[in-house]
Amino acid sequence: MDRIRIVGGRELNGTIPISGAKNATLPLMIASLLTDQTLILDNVPRLADVVQLQRILGNHGVDIMLGGKRPGDDEYKGQTMHLSAARIVDTTAPYELVSKMRASFWVIAPLVARMGEARVSMPGGCAIGTRPVDLLILAMERLGADIEIEGGYVVARASRGLRGGEIAFPKVTVSGTHTAVMAAVLADGTTVIENAAREPEVTDVADCLNKMGAKISGAGTSRIVIEGVPKLNGARHSVVPDRIETGTYAMAVAMTGGDLMLEGARPELLQAALDVLARADVNITSTNRGIRVSRNGAGLKPVEVTTEPFPGFPTDLQAQLMALMTRADGTSRITETIFENRFMHVQELARLGARIHLDGETATIEGVPRLRGAPVMATDLRASVSLVIAALAAQGETMVNRVYHLDRGFERLEDKLARCGAEIERVTS
Ligand code: UD1
Repeated sequence: MDRIRIVGGRELNGTIPISGAKNATLPLMIASLLTDQTLILDNVPRLADVVQLQRILGNHGVDIMLGGKRPGDDEYKGQTMHLSAARIVDTTAPYELVSKMRASFWVIAPLVARMGEARVSMPGGCAIGTRPVDLLILAMERLGADIEIEGGYVVARASRGLRGGEIAFPKVTVSGTHTAVMAAVLADGTTVIENAAREPEVTDVADCLNKMGAKISGAGTSRIVIEGVPKLNGARHSVVPDRIETGTYAMAVAMTGGDLMLEGARPELLQAALDVLARADVNITSTNRGIRVSRNGAGLKPVEVTTEPFPGFPTDLQAQLMALMTRADGTSRITETIFENRFMHVQELARLGARIHLDGETATIEGVPRLRGAPVMATDLRASVSLVIAALAAQGETMVNRVYHLDRGFERLEDKLARCGAEIERVTS
């Protein structure tokens, strides 16, 4: 199993190209099930989750082709993916496939919308507390699907097709919003989604669906209105840049000191996180090339942050910010409101010498003058990368075990960091 070895203490300087967003790529790939024509996606990141979803979609009968190299391409350019669901041959998403990646549950919506039925295993995924699917089921039911749970599978049927309806989510949910939108685009009539997630990835998927002929308005606000259409076409769409990858590298350079250009990053996708970094005394400048983040030798100021749905501070950057605050001059407080049990990185950060106290959903982080390298274990995607950030500034060697979590969501992480001066390598054994 691969491990990542890091020797801390080097500054980061140079340019890091930002990849396409994992959390947009996955639902965009799933949206290919909604049409019998070809959907072409550009800027697709090379990630284990993308490969896993290719398998799942392949099982439903989607032909997927990755474009070859073009003149001027380098390995940092995202891939171009052609997806064609001319015929859906299987409406079951089996346990062996869905349990490896939670987002694959979302195939339920396009399968029912196009085929009138789906049988999808209850998901697995990151071990960050219970992550139910009740709100996804609620959305499908509001649009006229009959739902039964049989042997660990959610079986959804709408033999006469889905109908538009009103869906008011009791809490903001990205997965629920994606499901509702994908079910509603082919439904008969108008759907209104209240308290919709406003995440940029929801907007990106809606933009792509509109290119495919859907009639979606209000994506990016908390009220989305969808007028169903009988059929969708193929289209070509480029995946939005990854705001979580952007924020992660911004925190990495804030941790080590140095000067990084995050190429292709868009500040409006993570303004809340950039504001927090600015409060911590990190320099941030937006240019037409991307976001430049730098910190000279000066200390970091502590911050108080609560995770919130977009446009608030994202839960997917909580672990990284906590790693950063282990080195602040004073005491910081981070409250996690989106997921329970999303503090698994705390124990591992403590192995590096961090002082963190947990009280319910709030972590109090007392800055320490230095961290020291140690063997640590990656527990979930974002927690893993927080250990990398801490290790980059720790004295001596850190070995991060179980890095398959990182490969799910960060494209060429060690390569991107090494090119900017970090001492980091993958150890395959
Ligand atoms: C997505 C992101 C994930 C991010 C999260 C919150 C992808 C692939 N993943 O996850 O990286 O951390 O948004 O920004 O895009 N909930 C229910 N019932 C449901 C569905 C959700 O109670 O049926 C709860 C969840 O347990 C959680 C909250 O709603 O407490 C938000 O979850 P949701 O926004 O749906 O997260 P995901 O879409 O799973």
